[in-house]
Amino acid sequence: MRLCVRCHSPNIILASGQTRLGWENTITKMVRMGATGDDDDFSDIADYLTKYFPPSEVQKVFVNMATDKQIAAVLEISLDDAKAIVAYRDKQQGFKSIDDMKLVPNVDVKKIDAKKDRLIFGAGSPKPPAS
Ligand code: HEC
Repeated sequence: MRLCVRCHSPNIILASGQTRLGWENTITKMVRMGATGDDDDFSDIADYLTKYFPPSEVQKVFVNMATDKQIAAVLEISLDDAKAIVAYRDKQQGFKSIDDMKLVPNVDVKKIDAKKDRLIFGAGSPKPPAS
């Protein structure tokens, strides 16, 4: 988050899964575009992206940053339910865990549980830090 969201939303990064080589190529491309960091940073980022965003895996979502449409798509819930989740999230300034998410009024907890592997709570602040 520190190095990769300076120029674009994290959603661009998380829209697709790739192999480690694919992620390394993407990072190399970003460095050519002006991304800065040292080798350790970039190797951590490649590890992280390869682990959480491998190719042809189910799409995952950073619940604390995703839009209502992304949440609806990943959880396979209605846009209205996703909007309720986002409204509650923004009021709470983010979810710390799935338990927080289950407190959203009128949203089917079973549906959230069924897709819990797709949810990423870590690294989540409601808005990327301004830099
Ligand atoms: C200096 C600005 C900058 C930084 C920092 C940056 N990017 Fe990008 N990124 C871009 C631009 C510009 C595009 C659009 C490129 C295009 O349209 O070809 C982009 C597009 C992307 C894409 C879309 C696919 C693609 O290859 O175009 C991914 C994925 C991506 N960036 C990942 C990352 C990651 C991971 C990092 C952190 C290592 C990062 N970016 C940091 C400027 C940046």
